[in-house]
Amino acid sequence: MLSKKTVEALNKQLNNEIYSAYLYLSMSARSTFIGLKGFANWFMVQYREETVHAMKIYDYINNQGGLVKLMAIAQPPTEFGTPLDMFEKTLEHEKFITNCINDLVNLAIEENDHATNIFLQWYITEQIEEEANDNEIIFKLKLVGKEGNGLFMIDKELAARVFMPPPTSQGSEA
Ligand code: FEO
Repeated sequence: MLSKKTVEALNKQLNNEIYSAYLYLSMSARSTFIGLKGFANWFMVQYREETVHAMKIYDYINNQGGLVKLMAIAQPPTEFGTPLDMFEKTLEHEKFITNCINDLVNLAIEENDHATNIFLQWYITEQIEEEANDNEIIFKLKLVGKEGNGLFMIDKELAARVFMPPPTSQGSEA
């Protein structure tokens, strides 16, 4: 049984994850527009991962007898600057999400809500991976600078990313 405060906080995080999906879909569209198909693929995979993050929360609220309340999704930007700017914005956004998850865990601990605490541990691990991925790509982009060949190589590398639904998600490949 979830407290009213926890249901509200989880619904807010559900919205944050849906916004994340929307943001990365916008980045994918921008990447396609400027001819970086590998970047577009990377952000499309990220979009799909975010829908999984959202649906896991959706399922959890439902399974715990709470009411899912869908909120308005904010409009994401459509301009992102250089590919490096785009990944720096991605990292900044993921740091925001990490803070949100940490706040949720703090709430679960405060409320002695062990189930929600355990549920959120998956997100803690996921955020470590997400920030590490962004940092790695930022490092490479800084290394190549404005050098076209380097950017071409990174684009090729990002084209290889494949979406892998996590085994625990139920009907989450939405
Ligand atoms: Fe669902 Fe990228 O945080």
